[in-house]
This record gives sequence, structure tokens and C-alpha cells, in this order.
Amino acid sequence: MQNLKQQFLIKDDITFLNFGSFGACPRPVFETWQQFQLEMERDPVQFIVADGLKYLATAREALAEYVHCNPDDLVYVTNPSYAVNAVAKSFELKPGDEILTTDIEYGACDKTWEYYCEKAGATYKRQAITLPVTSKEQVVNDFFKGLTPKTRMIFISHITSTTGLRLPVEEICKVAKEKGLLTFVDGAHAPGHIPLDLTNAPFDYYTGACHKWMMTPKGSAFLYVKREYQSSIDPLIISWGYKALFPSDSQFLDYHQTNGTRDYTSFLAIPAAIAFMDKYEWTSVAADCRKLVQSNAQAFCDILETIPLAPLTDDFILQLCSGLVKTKEPEKLKQHLYDQYRIQIPVMRQGNQVYLRYSINAFNSQADLDALFDALKSIKKNTSLIG
Ligand SMILES: Cc1ncc(COP(=O)(O)O)c(C=O)c1O
Repeated sequence: MQNLKQQFLIKDDITFLNFGSFGACPRPVFETWQQFQLEMERDPVQFIVADGLKYLATAREALAEYVHCNPDDLVYVTNPSYAVNAVAKSFELKPGDEILTTDIEYGACDKTWEYYCEKAGATYKRQAITLPVTSKEQVVNDFFKGLTPKTRMIFISHITSTTGLRLPVEEICKVAKEKGLLTFVDGAHAPGHIPLDLTNAPFDYYTGACHKWMMTPKGSAFLYVKREYQSSIDPLIISWGYKALFPSDSQFLDYHQTNGTRDYTSFLAIPAAIAFMDKYEWTSVAADCRKLVQSNAQAFCDILETIPLAPLTDDFILQLCSGLVKTKEPEKLKQHLYDQYRIQIPVMRQGNQVYLRYSINAFNSQADLDALFDALKSIKKNTSLIG
């Protein structure tokens, strides 16, 4: 596995095992971003209302090509939370309606749906997925146990956050479409992590973060919506794009791209991130990372005295691996790992459980996981934080 550590800005004195939260920019991507910011500051007016918008169109085309969709079918948003809010707020929920989801979704998205469902007298139904997962069929069957005649939309993660699992969303959404349901996939972790073909996927709505596995600057994400549903999404901010003086061909774009003065340069670095991945042959880099993740998963679980959350194959475990950790003090454990061992790794709650999750990207090596394993063994032996 080629180690690209020198291409990143991550500090030398930390073991960085949390790519999943906010990604990290490679140097050339970061420098491209800074160049755009500099250009903006040298003539803010020309940049914000003219040149920058041209770069934005170019970047959107590059991203659309990368995720295989028409550029007019996606809009930039700052993060997946924004996208989920825009869809949930616009969705005309009636009392009694149900949104079907799993019990392993990202907490902030759960809160968004709970908020809008409660407001409308609808139900956000968090269907239990049995862990450990044994097969794709099991996940599909578990999920649809929550289906009722009142279900209107399904909302599901492509790769879950806390449990780090790739879910069979293509299979689930295909069944959902056959049943006449709308499908919304939270792909926060997907772009740059797994190949996407949004045009041919059974997804009506899809959000992805570029600032995680595509390694772009923070605050760059997108919302994709199938053409027939685009006009039903209100922008979270109404601005000049509404009844635009010079409308583009896409109302979807006008509504969502124009939302007041902001620094949109993080989106402009997307082509540089794609070029970086091409240069270093990311398909093969990602495959090496998955191998490292999967080959260490059993040892990780053994130390935690638990079992893997799914079969150790590309169907379920990619560049993230989570294990149940027996701790009463997750926040203290995370801080201890950082303060005492300089290991950056999340310890996360989901329901009544706590999970420790490692992420692997191009700058990691076996030594990073060995450092984690040594630290965990020492914590078990010398403290009451685990056990
Ligand atoms: C599965 C999933 N969905 C949504 C999000 C939300 O991302 P953001 O905080 O960038 O909106 C995250 C963030 O980690 C996530 O892991």
C-alpha cells in the first residue's frame, strides 16, 4: 500500500484514525482552495458575482461527472444536514404519515426528521436492524418489517456513521420504488469511498459530503434530486434565485445556489480533489485501505471482547470499522486516547450502545492500528475506562 502521508497536512505527532468525521485535505487540494480564496479577496465583487460563479459551474460539472448524474440535478449545499433539512422541511407530511428509517442513522438526521414529523403529526419510524449483520437479505428483511400502508418515504444511510456499515441501499431502494415509495439516501460517507452512479440508482433524493472521503475543504456537499421532484424542494434560504431576474435553465439551481453572501470556494476545489484521486489511482488506494481495515477488524474486536458488526467483506466493511466498546464514560475514553496516546479516534453513542470506530485512508499504515491496539490493551489493564 503506497503511503501518502506527506501529501496531507495532518500533524506528525498524532495517530489520525478519524477520517470519517471531517475528512482531511491533501496539500494540492488545500492549496487550490487557498488560491481561490486569495483571488476572491483581491477583487471580491468580480469573484463573488462573476468569475467565481463560472468556476462554480465548472466544479458542479466535474462533480456531476464523478457521481454520474446530470449537472442540473445536483446543487451544492454546505453539508448533508442542510440537504436533509431542505428535503424534510419541504416534504408535505400529513398527520399519520410515516418515514421509515433504521435505528442506526446519524443522530443529527434523526433529529431533523423527528422535528418535522412531530410538527406534522407524522411518525419517524426507526426500524431495528439486527447486529451483527449476517447478509444483505437480512438487512432488507429487517428494514421492511417497519413498512406500513402509511409509509411515504424511506430514509437510509449508504454507509452508517457510528456503526460504519455499508448498507444494501440499492436493493432496499429498488424494493421501495416497486412499492411506490420515495427514497432518500444519506450518502454522507459515500463519495470518494464507493463509486456512485446516481442516474441509474433507485434514489429519488441523495445527499453526499465531499469534505469527507473526497477530501475537499470543509463545507462542501451536495443534494441530488430526481428531476420530477426538484420543484417540490424549497430552498432553506429564499434569496435572489426566487423569481430570478436572469433565470438559468434550472429553477432547482437558482433556488438553492443563491443564498446570500458566502464563501463558496470550498466547492471550487472539487475538481482538484478529483484530479488528486486520479493521479494517485484512488481505486487501488481505496482497495488497499479496505484490506487494511478488514484484516485488522478481528484483532480489534478481540481486544474489545466483541465481534465484528458484519462479515468482513466489501459488501459491508469499507474504510470504516466500528466495534462495541464497554465503557461508561465514552467522552472520557476518547479524551484519554487523545491526551495519553495522541490517537484521534471517535467513541460514539448510538442508542444504549457505545462504539469505537477507526477510519483508514491513504496516509495510514499498520503502525497506526498497532498503536491503537497497544493503547486499548494498556487502557484495559490500567484504567476502568473499558471493561
Ligand atoms: C451518515 C451521516 N449522515 C450525515 C452526516 C452529517 O454531516 P454534516 O454534519 O456534515 O451535515 C454525517 C456526519 O458525519 C454522517 O456520518
